[in-house]
Amino acid sequence: MNNPYFLDWEITSKCNFNCKFCYINKEKDLSDEECSIIAKQLAKSDFFEIKIGGGEPLLRKHLVFKIGKLLSRTKNTVLVTNGYLIKEEDIDKIKSSFKKVQLSFHSAEDALFTSLNQVKSSFKKVLGNINLLIQNNVPVVINFVLTSLNFEALDAVYKFAQRKNLKIRVIRYRGNKFIPKGDIERLYKKFKNYKNISFDDGFNFWKKKKCGAIKNTLAISSSGDVYPCTWLRNKKFKLGNITCTPLNEIINSTKAKSILNKINKAISTHEEGCPIFIENFK
Ligand SMILES: C[S@@+](CC[C@H](N)C(=O)[O-])C[C@H]1O[C@@H](n2cnc3c(N)ncnc32)[C@H](O)[C@@H]1O
Ligand code: SF4
Repeated sequence: MNNPYFLDWEITSKCNFNCKFCYINKEKDLSDEECSIIAKQLAKSDFFEIKIGGGEPLLRKHLVFKIGKLLSRTKNTVLVTNGYLIKEEDIDKIKSSFKKVQLSFHSAEDALFTSLNQVKSSFKKVLGNINLLIQNNVPVVINFVLTSLNFEALDAVYKFAQRKNLKIRVIRYRGNKFIPKGDIERLYKKFKNYKNISFDDGFNFWKKKKCGAIKNTLAISSSGDVYPCTWLRNKKFKLGNITCTPLNEIINSTKAKSILNKINKAISTHEEGCPIFIENFK
């Protein structure tokens, strides 16, 4: 199989926020040394874009900037963060390690923002750090996870992003409290021709496109487990562990081929684009 284009690498499962909708499970993080060895392997890989996230990656700032710098020589590197821990002295390192920052911002209103991440006084801080990045010409994209809790907040976040001249990426919530498909369709219809807003693969059912797991995307968890995508991370989808097996071998294994077949089969018999939304997906 060809190497996928996009890789999500979680360098920690720890976080300073506690978002009500978050899918991350606590795992043992790899050491700095293990992460550096992986980064050297990834630098030589065919991935086009590598996202460094978590948990909250900036809890391991030293490591984030070290591997970001190494990977940025050959890759399009992206930092995915909740933005809370960014400091003025980090700006130069962010700029030399990452092509852009994807910053999670799930409400433009203080009360809802803090009720979602369950951290008091986080709104002002994150807002201040968005401004800090903008003032320093760091390319920022707003990540907005569409959940039943902030469904109505998208309008205001979109306007906020427009005022700041930022792009916004809407991510469909993956989890067990689905938003009814009809509501998603209405919202998607409203926004699909707006500028500077994009919708992730979870909305593929609308575009009649298929899921890109394994073919376009791959994810590495904080313990080194490799999955077909960030969200398809149930143990039965585990392809291998990067500390034991080189990534190329994992991608070309019979296990990967059989999981890819299962994904394709499930999607071809269902109108949803993302396997996670397929009821009774086995
Ligand atoms: C797990 S977070 C890690 C990086 C960082 N802590 C952050 O929040 O941006 C990566 C991305 O996944 C999104 N996310 C979290 N839970 C989700 C869920 N259940 N479904 C879809 N996206 C989710 C976050 O909003 C964020 O944009
Ligand atoms: S900030 Fe990111 S990793 Fe942390 S709880 Fe929220 S979504 Fe999850």
